[in-house]
Amino acid sequence: MLTNLTAQPADKILELVGMYRADPRDTKIDLGVGVYKDASGNTPVMRAVKIAEKQLWERETTKSYTGLAGDPAFHDAMIDLVLGTSVARDRIAAVATPGGTGAIRQAMELIKMMSPDAIIWLSNPTWPNHPSIVKYVGLSMREYRYFDAETGGVDFAGMAEDLADAKPGDVVLLHGCCHNPTGANLTLPEWAEVISILQETGATPMIDIAYQGFGDGLEDDAAGVRMVASEMPECLIAASCSKNFGVYRERTGILMAISEDPKNTAVTQGNLAFLNRQNFSFPPDHGARLVTMILTDPELRADWQAELEEVRLNMLSLRKQLALELQTLANSDRFGFLAQHRGMFSRLGTSPEMVAKLRDQHGIYMVSDSRMNIAGLNEESVSILAKAIIDVGI
Ligand code: LMR
Repeated sequence: MLTNLTAQPADKILELVGMYRADPRDTKIDLGVGVYKDASGNTPVMRAVKIAEKQLWERETTKSYTGLAGDPAFHDAMIDLVLGTSVARDRIAAVATPGGTGAIRQAMELIKMMSPDAIIWLSNPTWPNHPSIVKYVGLSMREYRYFDAETGGVDFAGMAEDLADAKPGDVVLLHGCCHNPTGANLTLPEWAEVISILQETGATPMIDIAYQGFGDGLEDDAAGVRMVASEMPECLIAASCSKNFGVYRERTGILMAISEDPKNTAVTQGNLAFLNRQNFSFPPDHGARLVTMILTDPELRADWQAELEEVRLNMLSLRKQLALELQTLANSDRFGFLAQHRGMFSRLGTSPEMVAKLRDQHGIYMVSDSRMNIAGLNEESVSILAKAIIDVGI
């Protein structure tokens, strides 16, 4: 039976990890997978996480199962972080999931149960795992225009035109902030216009928010999500704690499902728990517990927010430095969009051939669609990257 298997295509983000490791050059630069790195190239455990882990070790008395949906205190803390007071709590069902990816997978399975003929609308481009999961779950998909390669910004006119074709029962997947892979984001007036289109078409929004706190700050990054959640009758939200709490390997995420009528919340909650049971039973608890401890302890929360802000400002200053160095070297403003982008990623807007040249000739690794992880840079390597970009003729 196992001989019936055929090889799966390589994941174009994760395959870079192996390629980078195998490269013997000590001048190599890793701008591949979306993991935050400090100036020395380390991905540190955040200070508040370390303290919470110590406290947990001292206080935890059992490793027995939690609930199928995870710990309700985790739901409350995350709902507060992502949604604030924008939606009445009794309209929200929630389950802890193995990371943001787990939340997306559970959401797609839920959509399949509710609306098997749904078309899932994905931005072009989007995180490659979005279409991959949609296809694997057996749902249909369509793309909406999103990135304007000419300006490095959002092609909002194209996006609006495409989304007008969505139908009731369809789901429009939006990136809450820090669009992956482009770094180009919707303005608040554009979010408002998306809401009008959703209301006119009757399609349901789903928001993937994996980088809250990495763009313009914790509150500003959640503004679009909160607007959608408060103005639409229904909404699905997949949130990840991997990046903003730096707990990548702990697999910590949450799926929220907002119903129009609170009477529907208990059934929705039961279905979310059922899906957890079918797929993995109980969700991982360690990361979720640390996140809950941090968010509910004023001192830990303040320290976490301060460190997250350091991380955000560091990425912002690297962006600005890169845009400036490229402006000087190219004697043009054509890379100015890099300073406008927000979050961990920017799409440089060049061909896979140029990306291969950067890798082969300069040991600089980025995804073939020219997505760069800005957090993979430091003050020194920004200059190396800028020179290499000009050197290969981008
Ligand atoms: C990324 O986009 O690089 C991250 O979200 C990591 C991943 O799983 O792809």
